[in-house]
Amino acid sequence: MLDLYRGIARTHYCGNLSIQETGTEVTIMGWVHRRRDLGGLIFLDLRDVKGIVQVVVHPEDKEAFQKAEKVRNEYVVAVKGTVLARTEQNINLQMATGQIEVKAEALWNLNEAAPLPIQISDAALADEDLRLKYRYLDLRREKLQQILLKRHALITAIREYLNQRGFYEIETPILMKSTPEGARDYLVPSRIHPHKFYALPQSPQMFKQLLMIAGFDRYYQIAKCFRDEDLRADRQPEFTQLDLEMSFVKQEEIFALMEGLMAYIFKQVNGQEIVTPFPRLTYREAMDKYGIDKPDIRFGLELVDLTDIFAGTRFQVFQSALNAKGTIRGILVPNGAALTRKQQDELIELAKHNGGKGLAFWKISNSEPDNGAGKFFSSEEKAALLARTQGKENDLIVMAADSNDMVFKVLAAVRNHLGAKLDLIPKDVFAFAWITDFPLFRKNEETGRWEPAHHMFTLPKNEHIPWLDEPDKTGDILGQLYDLVCNGMELSSGSIRCHRYDVQKKIFDVLGLTEEELQDKFGFFLEALKYGTPPHGGIAPGIDRLVMILTGADSIRDVIAFPKTLKAADLMCGSPSEVNPLQWQELHLKPSD
Ligand code: AMO
Ligand code: AMP
Repeated sequence: MLDLYRGIARTHYCGNLSIQETGTEVTIMGWVHRRRDLGGLIFLDLRDVKGIVQVVVHPEDKEAFQKAEKVRNEYVVAVKGTVLARTEQNINLQMATGQIEVKAEALWNLNEAAPLPIQISDAALADEDLRLKYRYLDLRREKLQQILLKRHALITAIREYLNQRGFYEIETPILMKSTPEGARDYLVPSRIHPHKFYALPQSPQMFKQLLMIAGFDRYYQIAKCFRDEDLRADRQPEFTQLDLEMSFVKQEEIFALMEGLMAYIFKQVNGQEIVTPFPRLTYREAMDKYGIDKPDIRFGLELVDLTDIFAGTRFQVFQSALNAKGTIRGILVPNGAALTRKQQDELIELAKHNGGKGLAFWKISNSEPDNGAGKFFSSEEKAALLARTQGKENDLIVMAADSNDMVFKVLAAVRNHLGAKLDLIPKDVFAFAWITDFPLFRKNEETGRWEPAHHMFTLPKNEHIPWLDEPDKTGDILGQLYDLVCNGMELSSGSIRCHRYDVQKKIFDVLGLTEEELQDKFGFFLEALKYGTPPHGGIAPGIDRLVMILTGADSIRDVIAFPKTLKAADLMCGSPSEVNPLQWQELHLKPSD
């Protein structure tokens, strides 16, 4: 039998060695991060999950030296030796173990490594597709290791916090009937039931509500969710939520629980204090101030409504927006007069990229004549603009006129762009905020039908429940819905659920589901609501996005061990992939072309 370890046993991790182990005999195992041959001495930087330590091999230790001559980068070796303090001039403060080195007495080559297709280095990053193909090698990089270790710390902290508060961790099925959350389902054909499909859960929403009906009171799960949607920098087709639900709960208790959880997580994972309670904004306030329901509140540049000021404008662009029942809103940019023509053009491009038609600029200046839109403003309009925006000499007002939705979209993008460009975003600040009172329904302009703005299991605000019977009020109904945002990212969504059968049924009616659709999709769930459903509510923070915030990662792919590309492909395994004809047959499937 191959004695893998030649009778030796690891005593320490490379990265854990410190000045305290000076004089100790140790056996360490790991990868050769770097090998240097210096004036007859061989230095090996030996790496394991805890970090890197320098090993020095002297020619006098003949056998070890001969073996060290043969090792190459990324070989797996074991070293037995003594920890020595480095001399003053050799101390390396850049390295966690830089005060010591291990003088090798024996060395074992546990395994060789073929020349690597990518380098293990944060400094010399290969093309991302290549790194994703060799993900297991890219994961040897310190940065990615640190991120995944933080992810582990995060999940540990979540479990500690919730277990201490009477939550039960319960698993729900991966093969299920679709829970409609708005995205497309991933489907799994059934072999045993020809032409029938399971769906992978977009979230465990219905199951967690059923667990409340079953009486479990407080549930959570680190849940895998699957959504076949267009991907972006902060979206993956397969992602993880901390899914939780509570019975006999009020919105306030969920907010307090989450604020405590976030504070605990930041403390445990990053050693950082965050300020609680978090500020709250209604959806309306968020839109009016920031043009978006996931505002980055680390900086100002708030939107100002200017519509009434321009009621009698002679500026054609504004006039036509007002004629079409649109609005005019603006952002005051302090000292923005310094923005160059090129920078203004960049902003206009950004507006157009977001579907807008353009932007109007007014530089506040006593010395320069107005050009651009300012030429068309009357002195009353200018005075009103100054009063409304509190603008001063050398400031700039950036304005958009369009349908209200488009004005919000354009100015939200402009605001985020300016915040970054003008360096207004403070570093190491975590600006959480609750966004509340979302509309319950949203009209799909294409189909003309009402859709749930979030999901269909949410209770309307109590005073709006009667409006479910008044079709002209549908758009005004607010739900007991809340999002937690942080630094401009939607981190969690949740709501107080509809625990009453009659209210839930009315919601389905507003959505225009036929009785047949209703029974087919939700029959089991509606029936369950009849058998004693406690009032309940919950929330689901995205774990991947939380890790992004905790680690400052720009891409969601950096916080997932084996992520997919923007085209939903796994470049390492090569999925999705074709399957053999026998599998098609067994699943009762036929190719469509
Ligand atoms: P929602 O659909 O808003 O709510 O999702 C909750 C949170 O999950 C994260 N998230 C994603 N993360 C990465 N990639 C994706 N494609 C992706 N989609 C969502 C976000 C988001 O805030 N059942 C409800 C929750 C509830 O009401 O309790 C739900 O799934 O961080
Ligand atoms: P145009 O009439 O398209 O030449 O635009 C005249 C000026 O108004 C240009 O500076 C445009 O960038 C600006 N502009 C065009 N459309 C809008 C809009 N919807 N809102 C604000 N400014 C606009």
